[in-house]
Amino acid sequence: MNLLLFFRQQRCYNIKSSVIEKKRGILPEKGEFKILKKFVVRGGRPLVGEVTVSGAKNAAVAILPATILAGGKCVLENLPNISDVATSVQILHAMGASIRMIDKSTLEIDTSRIVITEVPAEMSRQMRASYYFLGALLGRFGRGCVSMPGGCDLGPRPIDQHLKAFAALGAEFRVEYGTIHVRSDGLQAEHIFFDTVSVGATINAMLAAVKAEGLTILENVAKEPHIVDVANFLNTMGADVRGAGTDVIKIRGVKEMHGCNYSIIPDQIEAGSYMVAAAITRGNVLIRNVIPKHLEPITAKLERAGATVEEYDDAVRVYCVGDIEPLNIKTMPHPGFPTDMQPLMAVLLSTAKGTSIITEGIWDNRFRYVDELIRMGANIQVDGRVAVIEGVPALQPAPVRATDLRAGAALVVAALAADGVSEIEEIGHIERGYEDLVGKLRGLGADIKRIETPEKQLRQAL
Ligand code: EPU
Repeated sequence: MNLLLFFRQQRCYNIKSSVIEKKRGILPEKGEFKILKKFVVRGGRPLVGEVTVSGAKNAAVAILPATILAGGKCVLENLPNISDVATSVQILHAMGASIRMIDKSTLEIDTSRIVITEVPAEMSRQMRASYYFLGALLGRFGRGCVSMPGGCDLGPRPIDQHLKAFAALGAEFRVEYGTIHVRSDGLQAEHIFFDTVSVGATINAMLAAVKAEGLTILENVAKEPHIVDVANFLNTMGADVRGAGTDVIKIRGVKEMHGCNYSIIPDQIEAGSYMVAAAITRGNVLIRNVIPKHLEPITAKLERAGATVEEYDDAVRVYCVGDIEPLNIKTMPHPGFPTDMQPLMAVLLSTAKGTSIITEGIWDNRFRYVDELIRMGANIQVDGRVAVIEGVPALQPAPVRATDLRAGAALVVAALAADGVSEIEEIGHIERGYEDLVGKLRGLGADIKRIETPEKQLRQAL
């Protein structure tokens, strides 16, 4: 569900009945059939033109729960219209926040009347970032509970470092029947050294520590652009967070926070996805609303692969005319090469003139898409966290299935490069993180459409 649909559904919300619940899409109609959604792409043409990047998903899904700490009105601009954002907004609404849509990417969120400190299980399971509600609820109310989060299956995704931080700040937690409960009678500052660099644990610790008494020091933290964005948002709400973007973050707890206006940074990975799409299709694309500094690890690899990247103040132009050169890439926490770009680079390197090696440094199981790419003619051998890619002259069209969000985007890019018609199924993964992918690609001259087929109709046709 996207944000516009969420607000359309809210219009029927005042009439309380299960009929309305069904209209909101929460309760399925009796005998309702699943809708099968797919992208159909006729590839083989260069992408040319301009595209505007939306707000960063991984900042937005942390900043939305963080509005709870304001206990007042926040106006958030540059929110991406994606289903993970819609889910976060739904959760806030279900907990008692009032939400007003100002324009397609701006919401006013008033969290002053939140009384519920439990995230509805069916919503929290739809995405990974629902765990940020724990830190925000703990900071404001001293308690919260969230069902074990869902999200992309990239191998084991433990949250021990989140819980370690909460415990260090004086909270108790228990996991019961798949739900995490946290509680504290007053958070106290602490010096916390994370055992592993974690984006989620760094943000969750910040969300709780802004209200802890004293000076919290977080060491061995993540440094991604969205960590800095969340810290800036917290400071705009009255928090005192310093050092975000370095290895050590210092947080002096404050008693009160307040509402604010804030604009979310552009999405580094969405921008990177269009950069790769421009290069592999031998196109020429101006990608607007980006922070070129955030793209440096991606730019460096694309240039080594033979693409040209021109940087402007808030845009980059990518084009590529010659062959793709093979590369070795190891994904690492920022400022290393981002793991979320790994499947996209694998697609690009599948057409390189030679052998490339990609080593996944973050997740145990982020090569599940490789079988799908092999269907498209790629020559890739995976051994654990290492993929050896022998470049082939061209990718072939095929029916494929998105195995997770970035893998899905990578398959769309592969389909854009393959001469002929490909179909990508299970696009719900992709729609969790890419705003209007079809519209934006069509604006660049791509031949792509989104098709919805009720399963019933599909079965009758078979
Ligand atoms: N880890 C632990 N214990 C923890 C937390 C993490 O061992 O308590 C390990 C993980 O198993 C992993 C590593 O630490 O090996 C890094 O995990 P991290 O916590 O940084 O990942 P995350 O916060 O769950 C976010 C993004 C991911 C992105 C990673 C790494 C969000 C909502 N998700 O996940 O984004 O891959 O950071 O940059 O911010 C995506 O957008 O497609 C996506 C999967």
